[in-house]
Amino acid sequence: MSPKGESGLKKKGCCATNKCLIFLCFVVSLGITALIVVALLVMNVRGRFPPEQKWWQKTIVYQIYPRSFQDSDGDGIGDLNGIISRLDYFNYLGVDAIWISPVYESPMIDFGYDISNFTKVDPMFGSMENMKTLIKEAHARNLRVILDFVPNHSSNKHPWFIKSELREDPYTDYYIWHDTAPNNWHSVFGGSAWGWSDVRKQYYYHAFLPEQPDLNYRNPAVREEMKNSVDFWGRMGIDGLRVDAIPYLFESTNVSLNEPPSNLPGFTSEQWEYYDHLYTANLPEINDAIQEWSDVLRKYDNSDDDTDNSKFMVVEIYAVPSIRNAYYTNGADMPFNMDLVEGSYPSCNASCIKKLVEIEYNTLPEGKWPNFVMGNHDRSRLTSKRGITTSGKTYTNVLNMLLLTLRGTPTCYYGDELGMEDVDTISFEDTQDPYGLHFGTSAYKNFSRDPERTPMQWDESPQAGFTNSSHPWLPLNQNHTFINVQYEKNASHITPLKVYRALAKLRQEPAFLYGSFDFRYTDDNVISYVRSASGYSSYLVVINVGTETGTIDFKTPYDYQEGTVKVTTGNFDHEDYALDSTIKLDKIILQPAEGLVILLP
Ligand code: GLC
Ligand code: MG
Repeated sequence: MSPKGESGLKKKGCCATNKCLIFLCFVVSLGITALIVVALLVMNVRGRFPPEQKWWQKTIVYQIYPRSFQDSDGDGIGDLNGIISRLDYFNYLGVDAIWISPVYESPMIDFGYDISNFTKVDPMFGSMENMKTLIKEAHARNLRVILDFVPNHSSNKHPWFIKSELREDPYTDYYIWHDTAPNNWHSVFGGSAWGWSDVRKQYYYHAFLPEQPDLNYRNPAVREEMKNSVDFWGRMGIDGLRVDAIPYLFESTNVSLNEPPSNLPGFTSEQWEYYDHLYTANLPEINDAIQEWSDVLRKYDNSDDDTDNSKFMVVEIYAVPSIRNAYYTNGADMPFNMDLVEGSYPSCNASCIKKLVEIEYNTLPEGKWPNFVMGNHDRSRLTSKRGITTSGKTYTNVLNMLLLTLRGTPTCYYGDELGMEDVDTISFEDTQDPYGLHFGTSAYKNFSRDPERTPMQWDESPQAGFTNSSHPWLPLNQNHTFINVQYEKNASHITPLKVYRALAKLRQEPAFLYGSFDFRYTDDNVISYVRSASGYSSYLVVINVGTETGTIDFKTPYDYQEGTVKVTTGNFDHEDYALDSTIKLDKIILQPAEGLVILLP
């Protein structure tokens, strides 16, 4: 046996010795320690490491109605250069994405939603060069640009329609033509959806105005044209599309089918809501078209490890979750959830709002991202909807507090950050909106969308800083002397703009960006909830959207002792809930329209 062997044997036998036992113990305990350290690290990282979120999940989407945002050339109508001149405002506000309603070439019968060239900017708004500058300048400010895409219809002045009327190929079947008005299908804007062409001596289908003929999506050539439009804007470097009127893209080919009455109360047979739209809305074929645009748009996603340049697509729909959530498939990132647009009316009290929020979270398809909209160019402004409290307060701040602290992407309408209000005094003669005009002098006010489309209120000057013209396209709200950006920015007291900004900033905290959402005490006046992300600060949001005082004890049921006020609606009659003050949580008293965001210890 070689000495080597001997020593080898000796070594083997070493386990039995004390020295070896110590060594083994050392190795084992080292292993265990390492395991514990790794486990702790993993837990910590799990708690702290943000989930991968796309830019559109982290930003507020701010809707600009371009006619009304900023006029640069003195014609009383907003334009692209106007928007460019105001881009710094979004950095100030804390908004990282703007959605611009249509600026394409248009006869402006439906103010840009009737498009005569899908790849051209209307001279009223500026030029393609202006659009390029806007995108460039926005990107330089880390601001994403979402354009409106209106695929369902064109203008009747679009060359395609003019040629279609003349039966000029390949345009003959670009629209939906019939010899007779074949059924009772109704336009969303009221009346028959069948319009007569004196040129072609046939009827054509229009889901909206007669000047907005529906494109025929069963024609592959139309599909190509619209894909090309998406491609054009993708190449221009836009970040996303808001797809207009998605439910109406397809209609049944069986035009002998009449739509049955909806039996909804309060509608006349002139109105679209009077019918149940089995054959003209939400047809399954729509998904394929969305997928086609999505594929084209997402070709331009040039994200890399450091930069998220993903493209975004949201589709416009007003519908119950079972219908709207079907649009989460096939290419769309999300369908607008309009429940809060409707639910900010007084008849929807705090418990009702809670229900709407729960519906969004509970019906969301697996892995999809929630969203909430509180205002747009088609609905009464959020400040006007709920009226005022008996002591004269508006609900602007509590509604913005709700919208900006929910889990999901909020979409805000320009001016709602200031508490801009509907202008309800526009006469029939001065009314611009064709939807209002359709219903005549006695009923136009029930339908006109002009009240919520009045010019942005920048300052207290005679035209509110919106235009140099003495004739803005819609009248300014006279309250622009005290509801305007300049005043609300510089006031020594808390203003809606300041509240909005504070909320936008706070939204960047993990608790709000991706944290959990749990309702706390709620009744018919008060809503409260906690947002928290493990490893980060948690916040309690408590707001009174009702008409009666709420007194809430967060100590007894939840064991919250105290917290620090991080955002306040600032409209309290007392000093008790001042910003950054630490307050006891066993008895929070909120009057109607008051609200707080409280940092929990
Ligand atoms: C959408 C728009 C609306 C427009 C309609 C027709 O609903 O939001 O403003 O009138 O589509 O394009
Ligand atoms: Mg259609």
